[in-house]
Amino acid sequence: MKKLYLVLFLTPMMSALAQEPPEVTAQQFVNLQQGENAHEGFRRAHAKGICLSGEFRSNGQLASYSKTALFETGSMSFIGRFSVAGNNPTAPDLKAPVRSLALSFAMSSTEQWRMAMNTPPVMAVKDPHTFYQQIQAIQAGPKAIQAFFTEHPESSEFLSWKAQYQPSGSFAAETYNSINAFYLVNSNGEKQAVRWAMQPTVSVSADHLEGVDALHQEITNRVAKENIVFDWVFTLANDADDENNPTKAWPDSREQITAGQIVITGVTPQLQGECHGINYDPLVLPTGIEATRDPILRARSAAYAESYRRRAKEALMAELEGRGNE
Ligand code: HEM
Repeated sequence: MKKLYLVLFLTPMMSALAQEPPEVTAQQFVNLQQGENAHEGFRRAHAKGICLSGEFRSNGQLASYSKTALFETGSMSFIGRFSVAGNNPTAPDLKAPVRSLALSFAMSSTEQWRMAMNTPPVMAVKDPHTFYQQIQAIQAGPKAIQAFFTEHPESSEFLSWKAQYQPSGSFAAETYNSINAFYLVNSNGEKQAVRWAMQPTVSVSADHLEGVDALHQEITNRVAKENIVFDWVFTLANDADDENNPTKAWPDSREQITAGQIVITGVTPQLQGECHGINYDPLVLPTGIEATRDPILRARSAAYAESYRRRAKEALMAELEGRGNE
């Protein structure tokens, strides 16, 4: 009798466990991403980048959806970073498959919003364990990644995006996507699931662009002449959309609201800039913005902290040894 109870009790638990993909630790992620020879003192992913300063000019259109002060009409400064994907801080800009923008806003001494966005609008996979396998396949080479995508039909939207993507000639001319969804929460406690994109206001051809640091040089020259402006556009989910699945784009027919403009007014080499000391953890959120249950968000937060811990420790050791951060 006792045995029967045990079986009845354990079977549903075990089948639930069987459906969950195994956990990947932050250490495992960062070990894999940094590769065999870590570049000490640098981010273990998106290692090559440049610090940005500027401000968000809010038009007030999103104020009724979220109680964050950022969306009231007015402006707020940020510390940002453009980067290219990869673990090598001296890799050629134009070889990177993904370009990125990260922003950090300080609403007060205790409240910040940090975000890190990429050029693809969706991920190829929807859970941390499968993402880990995707990185393993990328590192194993073209045959392995092709086999991986064949085994993962959920990557189809990512692959369609990749097939048509034409890299531009400037960080200023890319679209940067939140990919993961978040909730806007207003003062009545109403929640709206959203994704967002920073949409460029210039188009720049990649013809004639060359050199290892082509994008970094281009953006440095550009910002010396003009501000770099993006429209911050939110897409509102409806009940048919799954906010916890970053592999599926929401239909084009969904309502979109432009919250204002991101205006970049200055750039600084990353080792001298303020962005170097910031961990753009996507779960650092102000009142009025909340995380969804998308498991990728938690994995990101843990991995960014581990990467930050390693690079901060290395930078400190280098300083103590009088080496600086070369
Ligand atoms: C499980 C999935 C992911 C893992 C494990 C991961 C891991 C990492 C790590 C370890 C870093 C370095 C953090 C640091 O030292 O500051 C990083 C940076 C970054 N990641 Fe991810 N990432 C994931 C998914 C994503 C997604 C979906 C996006 C885009 C929406 C993204 C965008 C970025 C950007 C833009 C940076 C650079 C931020 C900066 O400039 O400091 N990552 N990622």
